[in-house]
Amino acid sequence: MTAPSRTLATGAQMPGIGLGTFGSDHVSPAAVADAVRIGLDLGYRHIDCASVYGNEAEIGKVFATTTVAREELWVSSKVWNDSHHAVATSCEQTLRDLQLDYLDNFLVHWPFPNSHGAHADVDERNPNAVAFNSEAYLNTWGQMEALVERGLVRHIGTSNMTPAKSDAVLEYMTIAPSVNEMELHPHFQQPDFLAYLQERSIEPIGFCPLGSPNRPERDRTADDSSPTQDPTVIAIADDRGVHPASVCIMWAVSNGHTPIPFSTSQHNLAANLHAASITLTSDELAQLRAADQNCRLIKGQVFLWKDGQDWTDLWDLDGIIAQ
Ligand SMILES: NC(=O)c1ccc[n+]([C@@H]2O[C@H](COP(=O)([O-])OP(=O)(O)OC[C@H]3O[C@@H](n4cnc5c(N)ncnc54)[C@H](OP(=O)(O)O)[C@@H]3O)[C@@H](O)[C@H]2O)c1
Repeated sequence: MTAPSRTLATGAQMPGIGLGTFGSDHVSPAAVADAVRIGLDLGYRHIDCASVYGNEAEIGKVFATTTVAREELWVSSKVWNDSHHAVATSCEQTLRDLQLDYLDNFLVHWPFPNSHGAHADVDERNPNAVAFNSEAYLNTWGQMEALVERGLVRHIGTSNMTPAKSDAVLEYMTIAPSVNEMELHPHFQQPDFLAYLQERSIEPIGFCPLGSPNRPERDRTADDSSPTQDPTVIAIADDRGVHPASVCIMWAVSNGHTPIPFSTSQHNLAANLHAASITLTSDELAQLRAADQNCRLIKGQVFLWKDGQDWTDLWDLDGIIAQ
């Protein structure tokens, strides 16, 4: 049994399960790097990095010493919000930290240049924060495209976009996004956005595929639900004799997403990789489709740009980009 591989619009093969590396503010960079080392030994070949996770230098030591050949690895990273005007500098630093000559994919982490410090409180606002602006985004994208031309990155992609924001920029890009990284789990299935991406040959990468059970307090609200505690997920898990987390991974790969679960536990890393090789039945998938709660967990409140705003302003729910 092998985990699936996804064919990008360029024809490149991307391993269809990745290993997340965001330590959720409580796992040290060294512990995340250890997880990457264990993950590579277990057979993970796709690693989802980001400069803002603060651990690329530690992960780079693992890449420098692994026996896995570079061409077998798929390494992604992301430019953080404070570097939208200096994408090349950010990418070059990431390459130095990861001890790599090139990245397989490089993403614009969020579509706003609104940054915050590590451990920011949910009510913290950057006084310089601004609304999404397509011209500014395309300027950043042009810098991303230049990295492809320089051979520093093989693909570029978006993250935390919406159909409305994508509509505002896609037709003006010279190099199309290979992927969009987005929250995806049985309680947040985003079927309309997935159909939109499929029509445009943009592969979905699913973050928080298990509902991020250990996410920071600032990313929790009273209304949040948990896919691993969902009765349908639990019933399917019981039938199959697996943990509900495995059902979330099976759901993702069966629906054609590339999930990127994070774990520091060898047992969980192995279970997640194994689950990625198993497809659910159409009956199980229908049951899980009905379990959707449309519950976004990573709301992004810290990126809002005006006082008194609601987090939904970041996500264009009515198809209009809030200003
Ligand atoms: N593009 C973006 O804006 C964005 C946003 C958020 C996340 N991400 C990426 O997506 C990755 C995944 O998201 P996430 O880490 O927030 O959430 P997640 O993968 O849904 O959940 C990770 C948590 O689940 C636990 N876990 C993992 N496997 C398990 C298993 N088989 N059984 C039980 N528990 C298990 C882990 O604890 P243990 O360590 O104890 O196993 C870990 O704390 C991140 O690491 C990051 O790379 C990207």
